[in-house]
Amino acid sequence: MRAAQYDRLGPAADVLSIVELDDPEPGPGEVRVEVSFSGVNPTDWKRRTAGPLAPGPAQIPNQDGAGIIDAVGAGVSTQRLGERVWVFHAAWNRPGGTAAGYVCVPGAQAVTLPEGVSMELGASLGIPYITAHAALTYDGDIADATVLVTGGGGAVGHAAIELGAFLGADVIASASTPEKAQVARAAGARAVLDYRSPDYLTDLRATAPMGVDRIVEVALGANIAASQAVLRPGAVIVAYASEATDPVLPARALMTLNAQVRFLLVYTLPQDRIQAATADISQALGEGLITSLPTVVYPLEQIALAHEAVETGTFGRVLVDVRSS
Ligand SMILES: NC(=O)c1ccc[n+]([C@@H]2O[C@H](COP(=O)([O-])OP(=O)(O)OC[C@H]3O[C@@H](n4cnc5c(N)ncnc54)[C@H](OP(=O)(O)O)[C@@H]3O)[C@@H](O)[C@H]2O)c1
Repeated sequence: MRAAQYDRLGPAADVLSIVELDDPEPGPGEVRVEVSFSGVNPTDWKRRTAGPLAPGPAQIPNQDGAGIIDAVGAGVSTQRLGERVWVFHAAWNRPGGTAAGYVCVPGAQAVTLPEGVSMELGASLGIPYITAHAALTYDGDIADATVLVTGGGGAVGHAAIELGAFLGADVIASASTPEKAQVARAAGARAVLDYRSPDYLTDLRATAPMGVDRIVEVALGANIAASQAVLRPGAVIVAYASEATDPVLPARALMTLNAQVRFLLVYTLPQDRIQAATADISQALGEGLITSLPTVVYPLEQIALAHEAVETGTFGRVLVDVRSS
């Protein structure tokens, strides 16, 4: 198979190369997926630059993807052969990511893609939608809760709006451009506020006069001052990203509200959170409630450009078309 790989850390154009490798064989409990599209997320370029490198001679990058199961390992039903699936966590502690003709993953990490859902959308699901689902639900049911999603035009933010609406929450969001605000509104946000506006806090208070129960937070330090001013007692801020410098938290204000700050890493979530996420994502997909952000597709040979596009903050999703290899 053709694959992208890197054997040292560094800039995309310097370390990513396209190589010919033997097709991988699925181990016990694994399925092999013939990959159509590989999704690129910020985690993929961060691991390529900062590591860690998985054990083995080289790393095939990218955690997310979509394709068709073409082989199964011992203990996996042959009824799965031919199944259209989306794949997550492919390169987590493993050398074989999705930027290759084939990827082997444990059977549970290849989830059925409902009829009619495109491979491109399937390759866009893993990291953003599992992160968003865990952020929304880790601390309990959000039906009828008011949820603020900061950065609602980002991949995780957009997923959090869609899944929050699917789970019955009243979702409000922030975004910095009209284009992103439009995407966030279309995803189901009742209101979208410009977090760079000097009126942001005033607007937030007017939009959620009773306060918010949950915040799905992409920039904890930058937003904590406004966020703590609109928290309801007992609310939870779930931070899945933060600035390079650790933020200072307003401990007394958060204490007074009996509020919590939860930190979340998608890779180390408990299995029950992953299972709950894949079940709800599958249901929402089946009901047509999950949609694509604007998407740019690169051929495998241009995977370095795909990584650079994510690294420089391209709006929307970036995919690699592996079939072109
Ligand atoms: N912990 C985890 O498990 C986990 C999982 C997935 C992703 N992440 C991390 O989360 C971050 C976002 O990932 P992504 O895939 O969603 O990236 P993305 O698609 O590039 O979206 C990032 C969004 O953050 C917004 N943003 C930046 N600063 C903001 C602020 N102060 N207030 C509100 N919004 C702000 C940006 O909006 P503007 O352009 O409008 O500023 C942008 O839309 C990355 O650092 C990624 O590594 C962590």
